[in-house]
This record gives sequence, structure tokens and C-alpha cells, in this order.
Amino acid sequence: MHTVASYHLKGGVGKTTTAVAVAVQASLTGARTLLWDLDPLGAATRLAGAERAEEGHGWLGGPQLDLDRVISGTPQDGLDILPAARALRRLDRDESAAATARSRVRAVLAGAQDRYDVLVVDCPPAVSALTPPLLGAADVVLAPLTAGPLAWSAYADLAEEVDAVAAGSQDKLLAFLTMVDRRKRLHRDLVDDLAEGTEGFSTVYVPTDSSVERMALDEAPLRAVRTGRAATAYATLTAELLGRRAA
Ligand SMILES: Nc1ncnc2c1ncn2[C@@H]1O[C@H](COP(=O)(O)OP(=O)(O)O)[C@@H](O)[C@H]1O
Ligand SMILES: [Mg+2]
Repeated sequence: MHTVASYHLKGGVGKTTTAVAVAVQASLTGARTLLWDLDPLGAATRLAGAERAEEGHGWLGGPQLDLDRVISGTPQDGLDILPAARALRRLDRDESAAATARSRVRAVLAGAQDRYDVLVVDCPPAVSALTPPLLGAADVVLAPLTAGPLAWSAYADLAEEVDAVAAGSQDKLLAFLTMVDRRKRLHRDLVDDLAEGTEGFSTVYVPTDSSVERMALDEAPLRAVRTGRAATAYATLTAELLGRRAA
């Protein structure tokens, strides 16, 4: 199983969109794919047409993990969702709950291993008790960077953070530019710089796409990451990610 963590320290940079888009694009290649919503806010869960698990339920609830009970299908063939659990909100205030959650994370990773070819995890922003085991287990830590003057320093901060959280994980970091508007000089320059090839960066960039912006309101939200301008970029990015597995 190939594990991709969509991660960034900040909110609003495109992590959820990226996790959902990569999961959809992976499933379109025929890979059995699981999207795991690790953000208690549950944005990916909603986009995938599922419901957040209430306190005491979902992958964090019950005496032991039963993946069959907590995973559901999505409108996308070959894509399942492990919905967000509300109980995740309390982890940082409760060390014993955090310890239980860490062992559940390992159980989910082990349980998904034989059933899926690709696991895509939508991580909450910043560091939680679950970040170290997750980044440690990931094959790729995929980081969307919004195109703008702070893109380079955001990358440096992120690389430092990823290594501090899970030693050695810096090598797994793959950043890419998103919400690129080629009408803006700064965006074009950034894209052109990266096109030369930069360690830790993909040459793929995701354009600003109004259908992605509206996807939460769409009656079929996954459509916006299945076809369209952003979806095409995500398809290329996904091929690059899955190609790393073969390498
Ligand atoms: N390529 C894109 N084009 C247009 N809007 C985008 C794009 N990617 C993300 N967005 C929008 O940006 C906002 C933040 O994205 P989201 O994926 O929720 O970020 P995060 O999970 O990091 O908080 C959302 O409103 C989303 O629809
Ligand atoms: Mg999010």
C-alpha cells in the first residue's frame, strides 16, 4: 500500500482539496483507494458524501477497531472513505486518549494494508499527537503551497517542521504550487523557476479553478476533482506520486 499524507502547518492552503483530488485520481487509475479524514472538522468526509463519526464512534470509538464497520463507500468507484471522528478534537488535552488514538492509527494502517493499494490521509493543520506516527508511516508527505511571495519560506518552515515531527521525513516531502493564477507575474515566475526542477518540489502546479472553489456546494462534489483544469493537474501529480512507489 502506498501512503500519501496531505499535510501543511496552515489551514486554507488546499490540503483537503488535494487529499480528495489525489484519492479520486488514484481510484481512476484502478487503484483500490482509501481516503482517511484525520481532521476532526470533517471537510473531506463531507465532500466524499459521508458523515462524521460522533463521540465514541468511528475508528476511534469502541473497544477495538473493526475497519469494515467504520469505512464506507463513496460515489466514486474504487474509493472508500474513513470518516472524520469528532473525538479527535480532544486528543491534545488528554494523554491517555492520545495514546489510544496512536495505537488506533497503527491498527488502521495495518488493517488497510492488504485491502487498499493507495491510502490518502487528509491531515489537520499543525501538529497533533497523531502527526508523528502518520508522517512516519507515509511514503510521501504531500504539501500544497499557495502561490505567492511566501511560497519559499513556507517550504523551508514546512521541511524543518516535518523533520522535527518525524525524523528523516524531510526526504518524503513533496511540495507543489496550488491556486496558481497565470495572469499574475509572480505566479508565472514561480512556476517557471520550479519548471527547472527543484529538490523536494513537483514541477506540477494546480491552477485556480472556480469549479473547485464551488465544489462543497455541488450536488456531486467529487466531479470538480474528476475532470477540469485542476483535476488534470492533480491527475499528473498523482501519476508522479504513484510512480515513486514503483521506483
Ligand atoms: N485549485 C483551486 N482553485 C480554487 N480554489 C481552490 C483550489 N484549491 C483549493 N481551493 C479552495 O481553497 C479553500 C481552502 O482549501 P482546502 O482544501 O479546504 O484547504 P485546507 O484543507 O488546507 O484548509 C477552499 O475553499 C477550496 O475550495
Ligand atoms: Mg482541510
